[in-house]
Order: sequence, then structure tokens, then C-alpha cells
Amino acid sequence: MGTYNRLAVTFARGEGVWLWDTAGKRYLDALSGIAVCGLGHAHPAVCEALCDQAGILVHTSNLYRIGAQETLGKLLTELSGMDKVFFCNSGAEANEAAIKIARLHAHRQGMEQPAILVMESSFHGRTLATMSATGNRKVQAGFEPLVQGFVRVPYNDLEAIETAAANRPNIAAILVEPIQGEGGINVPADDYLSQLRALCDRHGWLLMLDEIQTGMGRTGHLFSYQGNGIQPDVVTLAKGLGNGFPIGACLARGAAAKVLGPGTHGSTFGGSPLACRVALSVLETLERDRLADRASRMGEYLLSGFEQTLGAREGIVQVRGRGLMIGIELDRPCGDLVHRALEGGLLINVTAERVVRLLPPLVLEQAEAELLLQQLASLIERFLEAPASS
Ligand SMILES: Cc1ncc(COP(=O)(O)O)c(C=O)c1O
Repeated sequence: MGTYNRLAVTFARGEGVWLWDTAGKRYLDALSGIAVCGLGHAHPAVCEALCDQAGILVHTSNLYRIGAQETLGKLLTELSGMDKVFFCNSGAEANEAAIKIARLHAHRQGMEQPAILVMESSFHGRTLATMSATGNRKVQAGFEPLVQGFVRVPYNDLEAIETAAANRPNIAAILVEPIQGEGGINVPADDYLSQLRALCDRHGWLLMLDEIQTGMGRTGHLFSYQGNGIQPDVVTLAKGLGNGFPIGACLARGAAAKVLGPGTHGSTFGGSPLACRVALSVLETLERDRLADRASRMGEYLLSGFEQTLGAREGIVQVRGRGLMIGIELDRPCGDLVHRALEGGLLINVTAERVVRLLPPLVLEQAEAELLLQQLASLIERFLEAPASS
């Protein structure tokens, strides 16, 4: 179906941060399939896990115990400080699980019409519930009636939450991205998450973090909240967890971890032996190669580099980000930059119309980061001198 506006390029193979199209042209991938291939393309550990497990056992069913799922669940809980994991196949599904946890938890406490606080400019997925939680009218338009039970406030605005809390006795949880991805790489105040944690504690709400884009080492910590010194009640993951193999996860802690039981939720494919073996190889590699630290280092290099070359230029609103999640906001729509970059052998993305978004693989080397910096800075400079129509 015509669900995507595709660029006129087909990639034939990849290695590390590089992709080659069917004509043999090479591209520096500064997007990782939108924060998915954190280990880069054709990583040997992922290849080994995928190929080996495919020859052993692909799928059985959650009717039975699954060894790799138990091992992955244990490792994920150890690394995240959470208690339990529900496995699924995508980000939207992980958020669906989180929404169900918040609702069931509230119902069990006698709240009949619970609501979840969500943010403007957020993105949580394309299913009916996650699209309704998403703070973008373009995503929702035409699909009404939306799923009820979401209360929206501006991002990075604690006062708005206090006001919502005063007006609504039925709030049960907050669902929020630690840094908004699709919304334009919006980085909140340093104490935003810890203040949200305090608010949730005060009101008895669940703090549910959508780490689907920020997680798996991207922002310089395995999970972004680890840089804020807080522990959420629910965390959702997908994207980088399988390095391109579809897997999602909803992690929960404390009371939230005890909500779902047999018959309340499930997934045929979720947590298959194959998906979990691949995700295990990803997590082990992230840890062994200290890729979150690398993301932090490379991110600082790129952020300060873009700030130096572009920061003071007219037409640049802000250079921002954390780790290898970087946004360069222009004062005008800049979708055409994606085409210009592609022509020059560079893959980038523009989100929220005016924000150049970079999500390169975490395995990015210094020389590759330098190339990315030089190439993109000069592309943006030329674009600002001669903007195109889009
Ligand atoms: C923060 C966030 N949440 C949820 C999703 C949805 O994930 P998926 O496309 O795997 O359903 C995305 C995808 O871009 C995302 O960035």
C-alpha cells in the first residue's frame, strides 16, 4: 500500500555505518534505519546469533517455557533495575502493553475511567491506542474516534501537569519520551524526569518512559533515564533491541510488574527463541564494547562540532541532542536536505519539518564522525545560502 513516501534508492548490502545501493554507490548511514541498527549493518555477533538460532529453533509458542526469553528477561531486568518484562514485536506494541498496565492497575484500585498524561509533539506509534497517545494531529487525522483516556499537556512543562492533576482526579500514569524523537529531538530541562518522578510519587501515578528511540545506548546510557538518576515504573523498548530483527519489550517494576497475569495480555510471536537470541547478542555486544560510552563521546564531538561550524549562522535555530541522538533545527522547512544528502552519499532525516535528525550507528568511528560533520555542515551551509522550495 502507499503508506510510505520512499526515496528513490534501494540498498543492496551494508557493513558497519556504510550502505551500498544496487548500483554500487556507497552511503554513510547517519540514521540507522531510524535508531534501529545501533551495532551497524551486518554485525558479526548478530549474524552469528541469527543464523545459528535459525538452524536450532525459531518459534515454539508462549504456551511453553522459552530459555532464551528467560535469559534475555533476566539480563534486561538486571541492566535496567526493573523487575519483569513482557516481550512483543514492535514499539507500538510495547506501548500498548504499557497503556494496558496503567489501565488495569488503576481499575484494580477502583478507578473506573483512568486517564494517562501524554505530551504534545510526542510519538508513541501507529496502532489505535498509541496513535491516540501521540501528540501529532497529522498522525490522528481521519482515524477518529480516537481511543479515550489520554490527557495532553505541553512537553517540558511541569506546571501544566500540576494544573491537569488539579482538574482531573482520574490520572493514573504519565507516558513520556525522555527526549522526543519524531517531535524534533526535543531535549527537556535536566531535572524534568526527576521532577516527573517526584510528581508521580506524590500522586500515586505510574511513570512510564517510552525509550523506544532513546534506549539501547543511544543517548550515552543503556537507558536514557540512567543519566537522570531515576527509576521509572514502566519502560518500553524496541528499535535498537534487535538491531533490525523485530522485537519489543515492556519492562515494569514494583506494583506495575504484578499487574498483567495469564489471560490479560499476550503475543503469538513475542519473545520467540530467535528474537530473544538476537536481542541477547545485541545487549551483550553493547555491554562488551561499551557502546553507550562511545555514543556519549562521539555525540559530544558531533554536537560541539556542529555548534562550532553552524551554531552562529543565520538560519540555525539550535543544535541539540544527547549522545548519538542529534537535532539541528533550522528556521525554515528543510526536507530538501534529505535529497541533497542522499545525492552526496549521506543518509539523514528531517523531522518536524525543520529539524535535521541524526541517529547514526553507535559503532561510529572518529574518522566517520569527522566525515559526517564536514559533509553535513557544508550541505546545510549551502542549503541556507540557496534554499529550495520544500
Ligand atoms: C518514541 C517512539 N515510540 C514508539 C514508536 C513506534 O515504534 P514502532 O514503529 O516499532 O511501532 C517509535 C517509532 O518511531 C518511537 O520513536
